[in-house]
Amino acid sequence: MPRAPSFDKIVTKAAPHVPYFTPRQPAPAGSFRGAHEAPLLFTPLRIRNIHLANRIGVSPMCLYSAAHDGAATDYHLIHYGQYALRGPSLVIMESVAVTPAGRITPHCLGIYSDTQKAQLKRIVDFYHSQGKVIGPQLSHAGMRSSCLPLFYDECDCPVDDERGGWLEEVEGPSVSAEFPHSRALGAGRIARIVSAFKEAARASIVDCGFDFIEIHAAHGFLIHQFMSPLGNKRTDRYGGSFENRIRLLMEVLDAVREVRAETGRDFPIFVRISASDNDESNERSWRLADSVRLAPLLAAHGADLIDVSSGGMQAAHAPHISQRDMARRIKRTVERTCLVSAVGGITDGKLAEDLLQQNYCDLCLAARGFLKEPGMVERWADQLGADIQMNLQDGWCFGKVWD
Ligand SMILES: Cc1cc2nc3c(=O)[nH]c(=O)nc-3n(C[C@H](O)[C@H](O)[C@H](O)COP(=O)(O)O)c2cc1C
Repeated sequence: MPRAPSFDKIVTKAAPHVPYFTPRQPAPAGSFRGAHEAPLLFTPLRIRNIHLANRIGVSPMCLYSAAHDGAATDYHLIHYGQYALRGPSLVIMESVAVTPAGRITPHCLGIYSDTQKAQLKRIVDFYHSQGKVIGPQLSHAGMRSSCLPLFYDECDCPVDDERGGWLEEVEGPSVSAEFPHSRALGAGRIARIVSAFKEAARASIVDCGFDFIEIHAAHGFLIHQFMSPLGNKRTDRYGGSFENRIRLLMEVLDAVREVRAETGRDFPIFVRISASDNDESNERSWRLADSVRLAPLLAAHGADLIDVSSGGMQAAHAPHISQRDMARRIKRTVERTCLVSAVGGITDGKLAEDLLQQNYCDLCLAARGFLKEPGMVERWADQLGADIQMNLQDGWCFGKVWD
C-alpha cells in the first residue's frame, strides 16, 4: 500500500511576492530537467543580476489596451500572465511611454503616474511568484505619438484632441512633411526627455520591481528618428554627423545606467535598435554599417544586450538581408562585451537552436508565434527532445496513461 505523504509535503508552500496564495514553483517553467546534456536553447543564461532558465524570450508587443490614463488593467495581467506560466524565460513588455506625450496612441502604457506604477507592479509580482523575469520597453514615440492603434489598420494616422490625442504636444528631431503637426525639439526639451527616461528606469526597478530595462531605439520612434538621417535634419549637436545623431541614445543609455549606481541594483540594460532602415542604397538612411559602428559604443556605455530588429522609418521597405543575419553581423563586433538577441520569424525550435549554435545570437526572441501559441516553448522542447519543467499545476498530469 502506498504510504501517505508526510504533512510537510501536503501543505503546499506559498509563492513569495504576491498578496494571495499561489503554490511556489520548484523551478521556473522552461527550465531544462533532463539527465543528458541540454540543447543550447535550454541552457541557463546569467545577465548581471538576472538568471534566465533558457534562451527564449517574448519580444515586445503593443496591446493598445491601456486605460486613458496609460495604466494597465486586468487585461494586461491576464495577457502577460499567460507567458509567466509557460516556457519563455523572459518577457519584454510592450512599449511603455516615459512621458504622456510620448505615447504612440491614447491606449499605450505609461510609467509616469502612481496608478500606472501600481498596476504594473501587480504584473511584475505575478511574474516573480512564478520565478519569471520581466522588463518594460521604455519608449518615446516622438513624431509618431498621438496616433491610432495599429489594429485599426492605419499606420501613423493622427488622433486629434477630441478623440483623446495631443497633437499640439507632438515633437520630434525636425519638422517633417510626413508629420505636419510635429515640432522640432529644443535642447531644453531634449534634456527633459533624457531625464524622463532616467525617472522611468528608476520607477521600473525601484517602484515596480521590474528585472531589467529595454530602451526602445528602433522602429521609427523618437530615438531612432534622431539616429536616422531620414528623420533627423538638425544642424545642432544632435544632428548631422553620426556622433551627433546617436547623442540622444547615448545620453539616455548613460542616464539609465546611472540608476544602477544610484540604486545599487545591478539590473541589465537592453537596447532595441533598427539595425537598418532597410534602404541600404540610400546614404541618407541608417544602414547596417552604422549599427556595426554603434554596437561597441553601446557595449562600452553599459548595454548588456543589443536587441536587433530593423525598419520603421519608412513604410514598405523590406529587409535586404534577414534580421537574423543582421544580428549575426552585430554579434561579431561585440563578441564577449555584449550579448545580442535575434528576432523575426523564429517559430521553430530547431531554427532557434541553430541560430545559437552558429553564433548568430545569445537569445532568441519571438512575437507573433507566441500570440498564436502561448505554449510554443513546450513544442520547441519536444522538437529538440528536451525535457523541460512545466508549472506545478500543469506538468504533473503528462506521462500518465489515461486513454
Ligand atoms: C502585435 C505586435 C505588436 C508589436 N509591438 C511592438 C512594440 O511595442 N515594440 C517593439 O519594439 N516591437 C513591437 N513589435 C515587433 C515585435 O517585437 C517583433 O520584433 C516582430 O513582430 C518580429 O518578430 P516575429 O516575427 O516573431 O513576430 C510588435 C509586433 C506585433 C506583432
